[in-house]
Amino acid sequence: MAEPARPHKPRLSSKAEALRRRRERAMAGGGAEKEKAQRAAGKLTARERLDLLLDEGTFEELDLLVEKRCRDFGLDQKYLAADGVVAGFGRVNGRDVCVYSQDFTVMGGSLGLAHAHKICKAMDLALEAGVPVIGLCDSGGARIQEGVESLGGYAEIFYRNVQASGAIPQISAILGPCAGGAVYSPALTDFVYMIEGSSHMFITGPDVVRNATGETCDFESLGGAATHSVRSGVCHFVAGSEHDCFRQIRELLEYLPQNCREKPAAVMASDDPGRKSELLGRVAEMDARKSYKIHEVIWELADGHQFLEVHKRFARNLVVGFIRLGGESVGVVANNPSVLSGALDISASEKGARFVRFCDAFNIPLLTLVDVPGYWPGMEQEYNGIIRKGAKLLYAYCQATVPKVTVVLRKAYGGAYDVMSSKHIRGDLNYAWPCAEIAVMGPQGAVDILFRRELKAAGNQQRRRQELVDSYAKQFASPYQAAQRGYVDEVIPAEETRPKVVKAFRFLKNKKVVGVAKKHGNIPL
Ligand code: HXC
Repeated sequence: MAEPARPHKPRLSSKAEALRRRRERAMAGGGAEKEKAQRAAGKLTARERLDLLLDEGTFEELDLLVEKRCRDFGLDQKYLAADGVVAGFGRVNGRDVCVYSQDFTVMGGSLGLAHAHKICKAMDLALEAGVPVIGLCDSGGARIQEGVESLGGYAEIFYRNVQASGAIPQISAILGPCAGGAVYSPALTDFVYMIEGSSHMFITGPDVVRNATGETCDFESLGGAATHSVRSGVCHFVAGSEHDCFRQIRELLEYLPQNCREKPAAVMASDDPGRKSELLGRVAEMDARKSYKIHEVIWELADGHQFLEVHKRFARNLVVGFIRLGGESVGVVANNPSVLSGALDISASEKGARFVRFCDAFNIPLLTLVDVPGYWPGMEQEYNGIIRKGAKLLYAYCQATVPKVTVVLRKAYGGAYDVMSSKHIRGDLNYAWPCAEIAVMGPQGAVDILFRRELKAAGNQQRRRQELVDSYAKQFASPYQAAQRGYVDEVIPAEETRPKVVKAFRFLKNKKVVGVAKKHGNIPL
């Protein structure tokens, strides 16, 4: 009787076997103990992170077998698997990206020269292929044993971040510590993600801070997700977990093009472009002194009521993010009357400017929703440079050549009227609701200045004051002075805003502007 067939197990040649062993060793990271510690800290491994970020089976690893050259300080006795970083290319939602993922289990993910070269190679390939680059950072910073070579390695990365800026989208996820100058690569990228509780970014740690300034702080208060998403504005997106972070990155990429030569991919419109909105009619009917959350308006305008907000916790008086209109990706910039009455301050100006410049660099049209009483006044704002920093938003809008559609919802007063994508700084199509008030300032303030003497002589009579306020409001607090001069292209019923802006962007789709020939402008930094 014939023997049953044994499963065929091909024997590897000695060379193939040698390769298998090398690969296995390089892929083992820092070993079981270090992996256990990584998990105990609530963190995934470098490779698990890539599995979650990328489409299944698409990761192509490069430089797995790269090794350090440095032999100082006992490094000759250590094998550093993949030199502490996993790099290569893969796909997200079917589109190519380059990636690197620092491996904290290998010498704390510290950055030596070979480690830096791997990251640089991924960045160079991304730039040449015209695809986004995503960095997953989890590192103790410059590898101390490699001295100036590791500093040089960082500088090579910074240089590439700047060359790639505005050419390909760059995304950083901070998934552990990020200390010293290492924070500057993420800071140079377009979007920074942090995880609540496990991500930390700082120039110098709590000990150095205490020695230098006497201040006491811990990792979290100094450089945690809350600090950087609310106060400093370094972080654009906060995630509750690493899984959530990768889901969010995948969602963001859907709104972006692969590079600056392309437009973002449109999707099948999921919503009626002609949809009118009763809710917007009700917002327009509200008492002008009452506030509302601008998100209500954005959700109402967007396809499928979907809004991907950027910098959600920072400078909440200005809201920015991505929506789709008629299936096309659009960047929204909107004053938020429910915070600081929607006034512009330093943080809002910087937040808005950065977003406008991102959209302009990557051919994403801009929808500006205006409800702004002016710039936020005060000594603190002046001392901290509202003049210089507020000018950033103005500069960004003046420079932006993507299609720009503006809707003045309620207030558009003073310099803030000019800044918020007004016709004068080349808003392409500017609409206003009938309740809009477009003027140098609000009625109360204007009457106080124009009629100060008269009111004083009349003993500041309340009735006279009210008469003057009403008369000013009638004459100036409307969209009609602006409409009569063509500064507003059309006064539209609030209910019809979505169909209007969908048509406007459709019309402007192939807009082209040739700028002034120069090396580069000089934005007030
Ligand atoms: C070499 C490093 C390292 C580094 C960590 N390790 N950081 N090795 N160079 N920069 C090693 C540790 O010795 C340890 O090795 C392993 O990584 C894990 O580190 P632990 O300290 O055990 O982990 P943990 O307690 O989680 O603390 C993580 C940490 C801490 C907060 C990141 O390691 C730390 O403070 N590291 C130094 C951070 C720093 O000051 N970096 C330099 C910044 S200056 P073993 O063998 O014990 O497992 C900089 C300049 C950039 O980056 C310049 C750009 C312009």
